[in-house]
Amino acid sequence: MNSIGVYIHIPYCIQRCRYCDFTTFEQDKILPPSEYVEHLKQEIRQRFRWAPSSKVHSIYFGGGTPSLIDSSLIVSIVEELANEGMVLMPQAEVTIEINPATLDPKKIEDYLKVGVNRFSVGAQSFDDDLLKLCGRRHNAQDTRDTLALLNKSKLNYSFDLLFGLPHQTQEQLLRDLEEVQSWSPNHLSAYCLTVPQGHPMSYHRPSEDKQIEMFQVIEQQLLAVNLHRYEISNFSRPGFESQHNYTYWNDRPYMGFGLSAHSYFPKMPEAPFGVRFWNPTVFDAYFDKVSSAIDGPLDLPQPQREVLKEHEALTDFFHMHLRTEAGLPADALRLKFPRSWECAINPLEKLENQNLIQSDGTRTSLTSKGRLMSNQVFAQLTFTAEDLTS
Ligand SMILES: C[S@@+](CC[C@H](N)C(=O)[O-])C[C@H]1O[C@@H](n2cnc3c(N)ncnc32)[C@H](O)[C@@H]1O
Ligand code: SF4
Repeated sequence: MNSIGVYIHIPYCIQRCRYCDFTTFEQDKILPPSEYVEHLKQEIRQRFRWAPSSKVHSIYFGGGTPSLIDSSLIVSIVEELANEGMVLMPQAEVTIEINPATLDPKKIEDYLKVGVNRFSVGAQSFDDDLLKLCGRRHNAQDTRDTLALLNKSKLNYSFDLLFGLPHQTQEQLLRDLEEVQSWSPNHLSAYCLTVPQGHPMSYHRPSEDKQIEMFQVIEQQLLAVNLHRYEISNFSRPGFESQHNYTYWNDRPYMGFGLSAHSYFPKMPEAPFGVRFWNPTVFDAYFDKVSSAIDGPLDLPQPQREVLKEHEALTDFFHMHLRTEAGLPADALRLKFPRSWECAINPLEKLENQNLIQSDGTRTSLTSKGRLMSNQVFAQLTFTAEDLTS
């Protein structure tokens, strides 16, 4: 376990988008960002020493809209991590999420000063009607202006695109993809809208079959500009895959700081199958928590941590690795689960017979059919405590 990923949550937004379920607030409705960041830095001072390694391979500023707050605050957070002993590795990936119309040259200069080398732009769509329908305040021209600013300084950026939106047609999606192609980003995340049944945006959406077609069109169009799918929702030019996201998919440790942030250590002496812990989603509870001196995650009160049982860890191990094209390495599975990996043999054989997964003996991954039916695959690779004893 020789390095960790760090996630920093910035919960400020210009508006609350209609589909968004993240812990974020309109900027004027909560405490000023400088006060929030003071608490976040206090948390770093209290907790960074818990990390299984002080070496950091990725930092991810997410939200919310990190690009909305004063960039000196972003700088001060990285400085606080360094004061607490963080060693940012030479090839570390440092990402910041950017909303269109919130970036300027001064912010870019500050971000670059502290090592930001990846800008994740929440474009969502280049169709002004769809943007309005999502409740976004920016328009497509704002996104183009932000991208032009990043291009001017030759910066490395990624887009987020949403699809499967109410009333969205194939033609609209194709126009979005044409625009993406014209900007040729190094990376793109394409998310199919996820909202619960009965949500106002759950009506008038493309049918499930149409959504699958949309997935396929996205894959084909992006491949034509050398953006390869490397995870269910993520595409990149070779070498530009998100290192931070691989932390989550490849069972590596990460620490999250800020309101609602989650952390995970895959192994501790008292938690051989890993421990997850997370921050409250309510400000007062979060502030109380970060000011209390505790020695480590296992001393947190029960509702804020979960020591994983073997069957839960095995389930997560399959679900996360199988999201990636690289898939699940057999040797890593056997190393972490020497007593239980064999209970996966039967479901894996069944899935292979159904052409939902493929294996070359060293790695197992989803087939293209499996990718479209990933929920079914994951359901068959969900283990109970009884599965491990039988
Ligand atoms: C944490 S959000 C923050 C990004 C940034 N604030 C923005 O909205 O542009 C990261 C991404 O999650 C995706 N997302 C948010 N809500 C979603 C939902 N309900 N279904 C699918 N994707 C969603 C959006 O594409 C968004 O860009
Ligand atoms: S701007 Fe991003 S984080 Fe904020 S509400 Fe919209 S989708 Fe959510």
